[in-house]
Amino acid sequence: MTGDHAATAVFAPSDDIVDHAKIDSAKYEEMYKASIDDPEAFWGEQGKRLDWIKPYSKVKNTSFAPGNVDIKWFEDGTLNVSANCIDRHLKDRGNQTAIIFEPDDPNEPAKYITYSQLHVAVCRMANVLESMGVRKGDRVVIYLPMIPEAAYAMLACARIGAIHSIVFAGFSPDALSARINGCDAKVIITADTAPRGGRKTALKSNADAALLHCKDSVKCLVVKRTGDQTTWIDGRDYDYNEMALEADDYARPAEMNAEDPLFILYTSGSTGQPKGVVHTTGGYLLYAAMTHEYVFDYHDGDVFWCTADVGWVTGHSYIVYGPLANGAITLMFEGVPTWPDASRFWEVCEKHKVNQFYTAPTALRALMGQGNAPVEKCDLSSLRILGTVGEPINPEAWNWYYNVIGQGRCPIVDTWWQTETGGHMMTPLPGAHALKPGSAMKPFFGVKPVVLDPQTGEEIHSYPTEGVLCIADSWPSQMRTVWGDHERFEKTYFSDYKGYYFAGDGCKRDEDGDFWITGRVDDVINVSGHRMGTAEVESALVAHAKVAEAAVVGYPHEIKGQGIYCYVTLMNDAEPSEELRKELRQWVRTEIGPIASPDVIQWAPGLPKTRSGKIMRRILRKIAENDFDSLGDTSTLADPSVVDDLIENRAK
Ligand code: WTA
Repeated sequence: MTGDHAATAVFAPSDDIVDHAKIDSAKYEEMYKASIDDPEAFWGEQGKRLDWIKPYSKVKNTSFAPGNVDIKWFEDGTLNVSANCIDRHLKDRGNQTAIIFEPDDPNEPAKYITYSQLHVAVCRMANVLESMGVRKGDRVVIYLPMIPEAAYAMLACARIGAIHSIVFAGFSPDALSARINGCDAKVIITADTAPRGGRKTALKSNADAALLHCKDSVKCLVVKRTGDQTTWIDGRDYDYNEMALEADDYARPAEMNAEDPLFILYTSGSTGQPKGVVHTTGGYLLYAAMTHEYVFDYHDGDVFWCTADVGWVTGHSYIVYGPLANGAITLMFEGVPTWPDASRFWEVCEKHKVNQFYTAPTALRALMGQGNAPVEKCDLSSLRILGTVGEPINPEAWNWYYNVIGQGRCPIVDTWWQTETGGHMMTPLPGAHALKPGSAMKPFFGVKPVVLDPQTGEEIHSYPTEGVLCIADSWPSQMRTVWGDHERFEKTYFSDYKGYYFAGDGCKRDEDGDFWITGRVDDVINVSGHRMGTAEVESALVAHAKVAEAAVVGYPHEIKGQGIYCYVTLMNDAEPSEELRKELRQWVRTEIGPIASPDVIQWAPGLPKTRSGKIMRRILRKIAENDFDSLGDTSTLADPSVVDDLIENRAK
């Protein structure tokens, strides 16, 4: 089972990397042990990385007990996130770049925003929001492209104590309105249009469409990105650029409790509609900052580039909050890896002399397919650390990343974590661990991963072993609740395996005790590193008038990691056709967004169901994987013959 890992190549860090690193292997062992033996003392000390308005006297007060899950860190301390990310750096690095903005079009000049400029921009945006009636605790939805104003908006909310909820700019108006209503937002911040990959998304008109389904009182703040014409509703729409010019350039940072919510971020789960993951102020920021520094071995003056979008948690923690809390230089890229051509990422690395580069395996696989020439024409000598996130990385992509991008010089930190965890949970540290391609290796400080037997729920102490991955104790940036539904929080993460946080992933632990994530064990699929609930795609499909029933599963996809495979049963009076297939694909894009586009739609006259009516997804997964020999027992099905039909007509 794990024997295959015994032959795994191991890549020890070079002396250069170890000598430069803040954490070597001895230091890792010492700090990890301290963090587990006495979390109070460890985190009490680490908490000093932040500037507190009122220092905390209590560090950890957490319980995973069934029926009483309650997580509090630094509960009597007060602070402000934007002051920690900006104000405290002004004295020493006011003139240092905070954000490098690289626009979609390589011919448009990059922008370099210093900490002082960031301070002014964020204060102005905070004052604009206040003038629109936003107060502490109010929710603000941010629906912006990857432009500096997205960071200003996040930090402006944090400054006045409003809770932001970012909706990825690739989401449809329907998905957007569901999220605006879900958190009862007072304001949505958007932009006119958003250039990406040489094309433009009409963000404002998406917002207009979404707002038709929201309360009349929701206001819309519009950032000018392209200057394209948009419709305008007086009294509802506000012009950010005009208002910012008038706004005062100072706003006092609100005093927030460590446990006040900082943001809500909707993410897909195995059942129902996306849930609003709630992160709070103190623990989240501390953990984002600390992981950013140690996992990427960030040193003052380094240029750090995380290619994620701020619409995902990776963008929250590793474009904005972690780096800025550390006074770092963080790069924000508006474009895509393959436009104008497959050199773009590497040209940006060369242009801005990037030191740490953090991306997703799906992007690497897509670029690897374009050969080495687009890489070789660029000077990548500034790169020191590479990182991946979002899904397991296959050995081919790992090797290409290591040898072609990193030229055999740069450690790859394969970071396993989740929207729910707020920051990295398992990863090698560059100067501390020899790498095994595809392994997330070791827990970060304070993280207690355990492998449970999925049947008995008992901890497995021996290794090598395989089972479900749980976390035995709280860490500071753990999500605190599901917005408006604490019961769902408990049910989703703490009820299958009592007393543990259940991540939803399976894992192996090899003979050395290193961890390998094997993927989701629930009905969540991972498409290009983005989480998609099969239930969400199903409910989008059945909302179409011609669809009677739908079942969605993931299947292996060369570039995306997993693709979306849909079995669709049509209404009696509907005829299957190529046209209808296209229509359904478009329909799902409109309902959710392009990332939910079905890769395969197979017409299914019937779905395999148990006698009690439960769809047997296990069987559908096997058929989608073209694996017909291990379908398992089909005799309990209400109508076993549907399986033969599905196999016979499996989409080619
Ligand atoms: C998967 C993204 C393997 C995993 C930060 C997890 C990974 C889900 C890795 C969370 C990794 C993330 N190796 N799998 N390094 N990183 N995953 O919430 O299945 O968008 O549960 O957070 O992505 O996705 P999310």
